[in-house]
Amino acid sequence: MYNSKIIGLGKYLPENVVTNDDLSKMMDTNDEWIQERTGIEERRWIKEGTDDTSAVMGAKAARMAIERSGLTKDDIDFIVFATMTPDYYFPGCGVQVQDMLDIKNVGAIDIRNQCSGFVYAISVADQFIKTGMYKNILVVGAEYHSNGLDKSTRGRGVTVIFGDGAGACVLSREEDTTKGILSTHLHSEGKYADKLIVEAPSIKHWVPQIMEAEEEDLSYFPFMDGTFVFKHAVIRFSEVIIEGLTKNGLQKEDIDMLIPHQANLRIAQFIQKKFALRDDQVFNNIMKYGNTTAASVIIALTEAWEQDKIKEGDNVVLAAFGSGFTWGSVIIKW
Ligand code: COA
Repeated sequence: MYNSKIIGLGKYLPENVVTNDDLSKMMDTNDEWIQERTGIEERRWIKEGTDDTSAVMGAKAARMAIERSGLTKDDIDFIVFATMTPDYYFPGCGVQVQDMLDIKNVGAIDIRNQCSGFVYAISVADQFIKTGMYKNILVVGAEYHSNGLDKSTRGRGVTVIFGDGAGACVLSREEDTTKGILSTHLHSEGKYADKLIVEAPSIKHWVPQIMEAEEEDLSYFPFMDGTFVFKHAVIRFSEVIIEGLTKNGLQKEDIDMLIPHQANLRIAQFIQKKFALRDDQVFNNIMKYGNTTAASVIIALTEAWEQDKIKEGDNVVLAAFGSGFTWGSVIIKW
């Protein structure tokens, strides 16, 4: 058995910055409400007319991650792509990245686990490396939310939260099993699927039904019971971080860097307080990008690394919670 180790990190954010004031021109909202409830100051939304999509942004982030890893595209053995906003209903974005980066005909899969998508993706990749099946895996998380949001006042509870962007890493075989990814922990609770959901288009509710539906059919916009989700998020985040620490004989004081999924700054602050972590032990960038779902953890990890906030030997914890419900954590010895 081997361990896997992150050897290259990359990100891509669309240039177009949308501030809270910009949103208040589209809907009845304001900077104060958004900052107070979520911590978000601005987000990136793909500008109409550009070529960016989830697959395109994912490929850009992936190119950076491969370059920084010191490998070439020809060294990549497998692709795992996490997104809830794929370019096509099918096929997935993973195969598009294989084509866009001209990677040889390796396997490619998509992970559909929303906010915990990247944690699930990295866990899947880790298993392939642990068993020796693959040596270098490209793991991508990307979301193009802005084209699917209700930008009227009706959608304000959800729309102000989400942003577009992508992150990627190259996960590689590590012979020393005391280093790299030490463990991953995944969970789900499907009974709450309807608390955070985009219902359509789905095979149950396909294009003809949508076209015939009344104007009040909002099934193709994200629905979120925000308060319910918030309450579950803070519990599950804590549980799954503790689960990961316990598995590795670590205490909360041993965390050098916690990268929580960027769902809401208030959730991250709650966790920080609960675990008595200092500001320099938790990384947040939701202020700049909003919630980029499957891209959020990997964009944050990339920026923490770019800012020299992670050193060799550090205990790094990734944790996420989201629609499904699904949640998970990853414990890394950097
Ligand atoms: N601007 C201004 N007012 C808004 C608004 C906006 N963008 N969105 C909602 N409101 C209003 C509501 O209409 C409501 O008004 P009312 O009291 O007159 O009915 C009021 O603000 C409170 O709404 P509520 O939804 O109860 O707010 P909240 O305090 O729960 O905050 C969230 C909303 C979404 C920020 C919060 O619930 C949250 O972050 N939830 C978790 C999100 C999450 O973790 N997702 C996980 C993965 S994506």
